[in-house]
Amino acid sequence: MGLFRLNPTVSLVSAIAALAGLLFGFDTGIISGALLFISHDYQLSSGMSEWLVSSVLIGAMIGSLSSGAIADSLGRRKVMLVISGLFMTGTLIASYAPSLIIIIIGRIILGFAIGIGSYTAPLYIAEAAPFQWRGALVTLNQLAITVGILAAFIVSYYFADSIHAWRWMFLVGIVPAILLGLGMIFLPESPRFLVRQGKHDQAKTTLRYLRNSQDVDAEFDEIKNSLSQKEARIRDVFLPWIRPVLFLGVFLGFLQQASGINTVIYYAPTIFQKAGLSNASTAILATIGVGVLNVLSTIFAIFVIDKIGRRPLLFAGLFGMGISLLFLSMAFSMADSTYLPYAAMGGLFLYVFSFAFSLGAILWLMVSEIFPLEVRGIAMSLSVFSCWFWNFVVSSSFLTMVDMFGVSLSFLFYAAMCGAGLVIAYLIVPETKNVSLETIENNIRARMPLRHIGLSQRW
Ligand code: BGC
Repeated sequence: MGLFRLNPTVSLVSAIAALAGLLFGFDTGIISGALLFISHDYQLSSGMSEWLVSSVLIGAMIGSLSSGAIADSLGRRKVMLVISGLFMTGTLIASYAPSLIIIIIGRIILGFAIGIGSYTAPLYIAEAAPFQWRGALVTLNQLAITVGILAAFIVSYYFADSIHAWRWMFLVGIVPAILLGLGMIFLPESPRFLVRQGKHDQAKTTLRYLRNSQDVDAEFDEIKNSLSQKEARIRDVFLPWIRPVLFLGVFLGFLQQASGINTVIYYAPTIFQKAGLSNASTAILATIGVGVLNVLSTIFAIFVIDKIGRRPLLFAGLFGMGISLLFLSMAFSMADSTYLPYAAMGGLFLYVFSFAFSLGAILWLMVSEIFPLEVRGIAMSLSVFSCWFWNFVVSSSFLTMVDMFGVSLSFLFYAAMCGAGLVIAYLIVPETKNVSLETIENNIRARMPLRHIGLSQRW
């Protein structure tokens, strides 16, 4: 695939920025293993466990809402430096916390950094990348998230038998945080941000560095012209012609979470224990299988997303997720529990595989594609907020739901969400492969139905 022909400078820049994605994955995923040990040390009820898991998400909600404004005033590079500092601070506080409340404060700080990073890293990569590679490079950020989650699962397994297991688990996150900070010191500011600041000479120098070429005048002019359009105000995202795509972005954020992914990513070891894998290490080991499939399926998505297209992948993924949840629901309702651990593994593996090549990759890609340039920042920030908000709702209610209705009915509920999501997605999600962002924008201006905004013929 053409991705391998990318120039090394822009690959390195994207890889360093994607460390923010890795930290997103690590610091959200690590709670699944740490939870078993913290809830043992502090005798947590289901409600308290949910608070612990959700504290990161509260921070992420605040971070994602403020990220647009912060990235526009400080610049992308400084924001990335600041979040690396926040990642280090949050990690140290959570790892050395003398009480539950301090762990929660550390996790809120980590969440704040994750929320800002989940917006700024793809934006920084997209602004540094040549347009032909933008889709693949943005999806590389999602790959970094899944690698971070897998790393968290492996670290949890490794430290499961140590004293202070959960402290070590949190502390490992300091390594990518330091690497992000060190890496960003050497990276340039985004050329688009520099043009916006009126620093034209610096912008051209940066473009020459990123493209490994002296011939950057055409790209520079294009950036300058696109920015000379009027600046958007917050209320512009509610203009009648923009409202439908805003709805689509917010809906995709909702669907990615309401179909239940983080009941698995954050609670997999807990679910495996409920299925009969009573030993914490075995439960975490089975969770590593979940993490490996998550990474492999994301790599699969990177290779096929521009060929097969977004819609078929989305439908196949939602179908697979729904079926595996139905299967899990049935398995947990059976009286005979001999095969339950295997059924739970099979069901969760298929579910995560189906998620990663569809909603996992597609949400982050589509929110960077569907919005007209003048409102892209604000609209993207609101869609990312929707994702964190619904993540919070699901993660802070899952254990209570299981206590009240049982595992079987809870999975049945999420299976129903996948079914309903599939129908709505069929009706409104456009195909955006092989179409320029300008064509999408023109179709939106022409008030085309949402499902057709990716069509490339003239209207
Ligand atoms: C989602 C996360 C999820 C992860 C799993 C991301 O796209 O936003 O909530 O934990 O995928 O790989």
